[in-house]
Amino acid sequence: MLNERLEHLTDYPFDRLRSLLDPLDPPSGLEPLALSIGEPKGETPALLTEVLTANGADWNRYPPIDGTPDLREAIGDWLVGRYDLPELDPHLCVMPVAGTREALFLAGILSVPEKIKDSKPYVLIPNPFYQVYLGAAVFSGAEPYYLPATRETGFQPDLAAVDPEILEKTALVILCSPANPQGSVAGPERLREAIALARRYGFTLIFDECYSEIYGQTPPPGGLRAAADLGEGLDNVLVFNSLSKRSGAPGLRSGFAAGDAALISKFRRLRAYSAATVPLPIMAASAALWRDEAHVEINRNHYRGLFDAADSIIGSDFGYRRPGGGFFLWLDVADGEAAARKLWQEAALRVIPGAYLARTGADGVNPGQAYIRVALVHDRATVETALNRLVGVLR
Ligand SMILES: Cc1ncc(COP(=O)(O)O)c(C=O)c1O
Repeated sequence: MLNERLEHLTDYPFDRLRSLLDPLDPPSGLEPLALSIGEPKGETPALLTEVLTANGADWNRYPPIDGTPDLREAIGDWLVGRYDLPELDPHLCVMPVAGTREALFLAGILSVPEKIKDSKPYVLIPNPFYQVYLGAAVFSGAEPYYLPATRETGFQPDLAAVDPEILEKTALVILCSPANPQGSVAGPERLREAIALARRYGFTLIFDECYSEIYGQTPPPGGLRAAADLGEGLDNVLVFNSLSKRSGAPGLRSGFAAGDAALISKFRRLRAYSAATVPLPIMAASAALWRDEAHVEINRNHYRGLFDAADSIIGSDFGYRRPGGGFFLWLDVADGEAAARKLWQEAALRVIPGAYLARTGADGVNPGQAYIRVALVHDRATVETALNRLVGVLR
């Protein structure tokens, strides 16, 4: 069974990228720059180190799997403030996790029954997508079903267009807004529509909102606000968020799931038997970071500057438009693999071909094929150097 499932997962994007580029030499005399990984390169907030140090005596204690009450409250308060929610019981509806990566994976096991209507259940994921979604689908024994998120659909999946026969057999849907890789933001109507479908067909709906705090002018709407607008509680809905992007601290491994109290309760039991706990000093630092917006505003302004640079260097070439959120450029270069090879060989830039972040869908098309994803995660001068090299080679 394990081997059979692993067969689905042979082509992890970064392994493929190494196979593509490592045999090739970048030009001598140019410093190689990696724009392939979405890892913020800035300094982490001073607050993080201060609180970690102040709680250093707690490294010798096993942390509670469900997080400290203080961290749950800090996250709950943040959610209520950020999304103007009427109420949210943090002790029933919030679960701290060791990064959302592990929680996304476990969400498959949480949500997928052995069969629905005598068939293998479906897990619906956007295409292209964050690769752990596929891990969640495959290791829960479900059939992954890819929802195209292309220019034609506003780079967000159109869940309402899915055949009702598929939705009848769907156990889990994962949506991502702002999206990795396209930066597209789902509007409130799409969020409400997805929740209504989750309730009509009885599937778990996860909104992956980990890029929610990296935006231009307008804060992206969120799944819990959409549920509040529908006014029927939080049934079927979980939102996931993380300090990795908001606080530029991917190494902290700290995030949360929040929403439907019944799902959170099952999730806690599942995690008690499986998942990594978040160490106490990290929980203390996380609570302080969720309570502080000053460092987030600095972080957001930094990314605004990087997109200003992209606007002026790239203009409207490669189908570029400033995305609603996140820190990726999703550029239409006709053949993403050829462009990635050329950028490495001629400009010492590592970017990831869009096809590696997507799969061939039921229509026989890989929606990432024409694209490259460029992560804007360095300081502004480095990003300007990289983008000037990029347009010099591809224009
Ligand atoms: C769309 C998306 N979801 C989830 C994650 C996982 O983030 P973390 O595990 O750091 O919370 C990432 C990380 O890159 C991501 O891009």
